[in-house]
Amino acid sequence: MCGIIGYVGHRPAVPVVVEGLERLEYRGYDSAGVAWEQLGQLHVLRAKGKLSALKEKLADSPAVTATCAMGHTRWATHGVPAERNAHPHLANDGTLALVHNGIIENYQELKTELAALGYEFHSETDTEVLVNLIAERRKTEPDLLHAFAQALREAHGAYAVCLLDVAEPDTLLAARMSAPLILGLGTGENFVASDIPAFLPYTRRVVFLEDGEIVRATASEHGIFRLADLTPVEREAQVIQWDMQAAQKDGFRHFMLKEIFEQPRVITDGLAGRVAHPGDGVVLPEIAQLPVPKRLHVVACGTSYHAGLWGRHLLEAWAGIPVQVEIASEFRYREKPRFGEGEMGLVISQSGETADTLAALRLMKEQGLPVLGLCNVVGSSIAREADAVFFTQAGPEISVASTKAMCSQMLSLALMALHWSERTGALDAAARKERIGLLQSLPALLDDHLPQMHKTARELALKYAQAANFFYLGRGHCFPLALEGALKLKELSYIHAEGYAAGEMKHGPIALIDPAFPTFALALDDALFPKVKSNIEEVQARQGKVIALTNPGMELATDDVWRIPYLPAPLAAFAALPALQLFSYEVADYLGKDVDQPRNLAKSVTVE
Ligand code: F6R
Repeated sequence: MCGIIGYVGHRPAVPVVVEGLERLEYRGYDSAGVAWEQLGQLHVLRAKGKLSALKEKLADSPAVTATCAMGHTRWATHGVPAERNAHPHLANDGTLALVHNGIIENYQELKTELAALGYEFHSETDTEVLVNLIAERRKTEPDLLHAFAQALREAHGAYAVCLLDVAEPDTLLAARMSAPLILGLGTGENFVASDIPAFLPYTRRVVFLEDGEIVRATASEHGIFRLADLTPVEREAQVIQWDMQAAQKDGFRHFMLKEIFEQPRVITDGLAGRVAHPGDGVVLPEIAQLPVPKRLHVVACGTSYHAGLWGRHLLEAWAGIPVQVEIASEFRYREKPRFGEGEMGLVISQSGETADTLAALRLMKEQGLPVLGLCNVVGSSIAREADAVFFTQAGPEISVASTKAMCSQMLSLALMALHWSERTGALDAAARKERIGLLQSLPALLDDHLPQMHKTARELALKYAQAANFFYLGRGHCFPLALEGALKLKELSYIHAEGYAAGEMKHGPIALIDPAFPTFALALDDALFPKVKSNIEEVQARQGKVIALTNPGMELATDDVWRIPYLPAPLAAFAALPALQLFSYEVADYLGKDVDQPRNLAKSVTVE
């Protein structure tokens, strides 16, 4: 995920663009850059690290008078965070500059084609390939608009791009496909950007571009065209009523809610470039070079630990790899026998900075265990120190309570299990194809059902928010979800909640049940449903109130039955997780708690 902005108007453009980048920095911050035209030449200034590094460079440069410019703040996908990989990228002949958010999946093929024509590449990015492809197509197409469209038709994947041409320095060309791009219409000035806050101080009139559309904007005009055939598109502008803070949250009340609703997009991004057609298998260059582990030692904290516990079910059942999952703060101080030959460590961390997880990684490496990192933050300590890294592509998570990161970790673990299943032969091709197809169906399914889930969560929250205690019960792949549901409720609403393996209740905890101690039971349509049902009946026999999260057609007589769409286990977790998150969110919001920044917590726990 990256942020892009383009400006054309009557103001000095570079300061406007840099100010816009400040409000897009949440989308990525491992490098940034700007481009503009001056005296018949395109100028590009880029810097590794946060935007402040770019600003320092700009402060040391001569003043820029251009009234058209574009900028980028990067969250690395192809190529490490470094100045050479920062955007904008120039075409070899220096006539075009491009900024890009997304992934061009066939960039290697396009690169080979262009290299054969003599093009040289100075970065590892797919963006540099695309800008040179546009330059190449310009030689044969009637004008730049046609060349831009032609090159984009040849590029497969997701993108929002903005292009600057030295020959028409007061015109922006931009396009989108599965990545956000919004046109901002001012008076004598126009903008394109990944998100509205980038230009909100200047205009509230916006046009939301749709997939497969190109926009051409000058200071006084704009035109939208269909990428397929360049036919013009008419679209009314809308007037945004949000203030700046609300705009950064895309109109959601809290970052947490926004991030819950981002989960379909997180899954789409996580699949991009890794899975094309269900029959083709899973492409994971990050682990393809590593031997299949004989045993996997998964270590993590908090929500990431719950993702690991869930992942064990897939790694064992699908790939046939024995898995141990442990809390990092316990793992690091436990005396243990030496690891065996062919075993591997897997540390899971959204931030990549959690002190205990990092210490566990170092310990495993000291003991000769190769360690794979599953991280969200590029350039984090765990990403740098692990022997290999798998990035989760969730984009920055701002709410302190982790939501979309867990979804992205689960998706990554499912992809790893599928990849290894091919190499161990534990799943046949048909079974793998079916599971890949299910993963691909998740974004649309969640997009359809999240609004209704949110509504149900709100209704249930009103009913249960006064409880002082809560049990969360689940079995099998739902046990980690029970732990996660309880964690979300306690950290957000400060209601005491315990996640328990449903079958363990009768070994003690059931003594707590009374009419004032409700239970949230995960009773999904899977092989363990009859067992969970009888555990629920045990609770009800002690006058305990029960909310059952289940699927259509499952017979249950609980106080509240919450039906979510069916998915086969263990992938059903992708639908159950947002339900749990939304319930906790709504309880906390109803109780007036600080949802995005709960008391006593920090986003990145860098102390042990
Ligand atoms: C809970 C939560 C924490 C983190 C834990 C690990 O909502 O966010 O439990 O999951 O602190 O953090 P990472 O994944 O950054 O290592």
